[in-house]
Amino acid sequence: MARLKVAVLISGRGSNLAALIEACAAADFPAEIALVLSNRADAAGLAHAARAGIAARIIAHRDYAARAAFDAALDGALRDAGIELVCLAGFMRLLGKDFVERWRDRLVNIHPSLLPAFRGLDPHARALAAGVRFAGCTVHFVRPEMDEGPIIVQAAVPVLPDDDADRLAARVLAAEHKAYPLALRLIAEGRVRVEGDRVLLAGAAANPTMLLNPPGTAAGRATLTAAEPQLFVADLAKSCDFFTGMLGFAVAFRYGDPPFYAQVHRDGARLNLRHVDTPVHDRARVKREDLLAAAITVDDVARLFAEFQAAGVAFHQALRTEPWGARTFIVADPDGNLLLFAGAA
Ligand code: GRF
Repeated sequence: MARLKVAVLISGRGSNLAALIEACAAADFPAEIALVLSNRADAAGLAHAARAGIAARIIAHRDYAARAAFDAALDGALRDAGIELVCLAGFMRLLGKDFVERWRDRLVNIHPSLLPAFRGLDPHARALAAGVRFAGCTVHFVRPEMDEGPIIVQAAVPVLPDDDADRLAARVLAAEHKAYPLALRLIAEGRVRVEGDRVLLAGAAANPTMLLNPPGTAAGRATLTAAEPQLFVADLAKSCDFFTGMLGFAVAFRYGDPPFYAQVHRDGARLNLRHVDTPVHDRARVKREDLLAAAITVDDVARLFAEFQAAGVAFHQALRTEPWGARTFIVADPDGNLLLFAGAA
């Protein structure tokens, strides 16, 4: 299988780059990252490229007097590497019209809002100020105007009552890490066609599911009453993203440099996340035998289940009534730790 040769352009943290690297690691993924370019030598994301053995180059915008010269240097590096598609992932330089036109429909970006709403900086704070019920992210082809261009994939996440910009950003970021690999797959499979200002997708299943936020009729939010387990996790940042982005937790603290311990909390539940290099549990066995890592009690388990459904959580076990009367459901975290949520019937 010939894989689409992709370059990823970053300026900072590079968590979207990491998500794309992870997706491309699958044997059947139709794209490969052949080059990472950064305009900053200190971009933390460069470590992801190094770890994955991907060629990385630093082209510092400060070394170029004019934008056109910087753009030409980027273009040269992309051409030298035989790049077919360019993915902007937190690349904080505006690209000139010539560059954008030269890479027309072969240049994509991810923006953390449901475009065309909230283009530009601070989309999360502006989404909260506007009181929207859904936020999200958009992967789109790049046009010369900032955060404009045909939309390929969007992911929507609910805005929760006690969100601040950081919590909302974390939930959106978890969605970005799903949306970008999906968009890349669709492009690499040749299923994306630009027609005018829109993208037409070939063979995409239609999903008519309605998203309602707040869900159902009851207002308010379920309260987690208790739990304080220690969970073993391979990637602390990814784990924190999952708990904050999908399950409505907040990070209480991270400890160590680099961090090896963190605590996330929601109401009375505190989950201690301990980094381990190699899995402590046999994942297949945990899954097969329903070996729980934590039991978390909830005042309204059905409401919590609906909240998690709206956030797009995948369930190991859906909501059910146990023979002894309790209602439970089970969620697996990114390491396969099974978390049971339980409440009265
Ligand atoms: C993401 O939120 C992306 O949508 C925006 O910049 C941020 C980059 O984050 N364009 P990361 O560097 O990928 O972690």
